[in-house]
This record gives sequence, structure tokens and C-alpha cells, in this order.
Amino acid sequence: MSTPENIFPVFDQILQREDKEKMLQQHAKVIWMTGLSGSGKTTIAKQLEHILHHKGFLTKLLDGDNIRSGINNNLTFSAEDRAENIRRISEVSKLFLNCGVICINCFVSPTNDIRHKIIEIVGEENVLMVFVNTPLEVCEARDVKGLYAKARKGEIPNFTGISAPFDVPDMPYIEVKTEGLTVEESAQQILDKVLPHLNVEDSKEEE
Ligand code: ADX
Repeated sequence: MSTPENIFPVFDQILQREDKEKMLQQHAKVIWMTGLSGSGKTTIAKQLEHILHHKGFLTKLLDGDNIRSGINNNLTFSAEDRAENIRRISEVSKLFLNCGVICINCFVSPTNDIRHKIIEIVGEENVLMVFVNTPLEVCEARDVKGLYAKARKGEIPNFTGISAPFDVPDMPYIEVKTEGLTVEESAQQILDKVLPHLNVEDSKEEE
């Protein structure tokens, strides 16, 4: 991407990602959880973050409801605003990545267009895409936030899975089919897949 006029970014002399990763003894990655609202992304991510934290990894959990009440509080759920939501989060994730931090991102991120944008911004080698695959019927039956009921009544426009699309990822991804699994089991499945990408050596494996 080209740099805008009159902007002079300075990247040399600033400590590099490698310096931070060396200090932290970890490889930074963005673990990006995609899935329907109520699929369990954030609940599983919290568990995953606890495990990683206890193993000595520095992590940052980013989640849709939190980000949308802060940095992205001017965005709706139109297709354009969802793209902007994800673009900003991807840029924020890149900042964490360059600080050596492992991001665990929990966003519906419903379409493949949006997911390819994530990869474009963050870099394919930096993203571990995780599909939290919980059937719509299950999410709707749980309806933890009462949003599905409202969406069915037409009170929430563009609701993912009801009146807005959710694509199965068309890129490599880690899948966790949550139905019949505990939160711990779901988190463990993801952990098994991501850990080799985070470890500098096996030093944190045994803890
Ligand atoms: S995304 O589509 O732009 O990636 P994001 O993850 O930030 O969505 O926010 C999703 C959360 O916002 C859901 O978990 C839900 O609580 C809430 N929400 C409110 N309106 C909608 C909607 N129309 N579609 C999906 N989620 C919604």
C-alpha cells in the first residue's frame, strides 16, 4: 500500500518485533476466531487465554462487544461498517503483533471477503484462523443475549445467520465443532493446534 502524501513513517531504529519476541520467548500470532454470535468464541477464547497465560505467553484478547463499545463505537452492522470494523481490528492486531504479543480475536467476521482482508493486512503467515463451528440452531436456542429473538422479530437488521450472511471459511482454518464439547475441551483442541506456532522452543510446553 502506498504512503499518503506528507506522511513520513519511521521504522528503523525502533525496536523490532524480533527483539520483543526474543524477550518474551514466543512467536507472535493472531489467533482469529470466526463464528456466529453466541457460538462461544469469547468464552472459549477466555479459557484459551488463561491456559496460554499460565504457560508464560503474553496475550491480548480482543472481542466484538468490547471493541464496538470503544474504538469502533461509531460502526453499525452494515456490510461496509463490518468491513471497517475488521480493518481497524486488523490494524490494531498488527500493532500488538509487532510488539510480540499473541492476539486472540473474537469477531463474527462473517464473510470470506472480510477474512481475506484480515490476511491481507495482518499477513497470511501471522494469522491462525479458527472457525468456531456451532450450528445456528444451537446459537439461537442458547440466545444468551436475547439477540436472535429480536432478530427474528425484525427488530435487529442485518443479523448474522438470520438476515445477513455467514460463510464457511474458504481458507485454511482450524475447526472446532463445539456441540457436545465442554469449553475446556474446545479450548484444548485449539491449543493443540496453535501451540506449535507460538513456541520458540519446547520450553513452555511442559509447564
Ligand atoms: S462483525 O460482523 O463486525 O465481525 P462483531 O464481532 O464486531 O461483528 O460484533 C458481533 C457482536 O455484536 C455479536 O456477538 C452480537 O452480540 C452483537 N450484534 C449486534 N447486532 C448484530 C448483528 N446485526 N449481527 C451480528 N451481531 C450483532
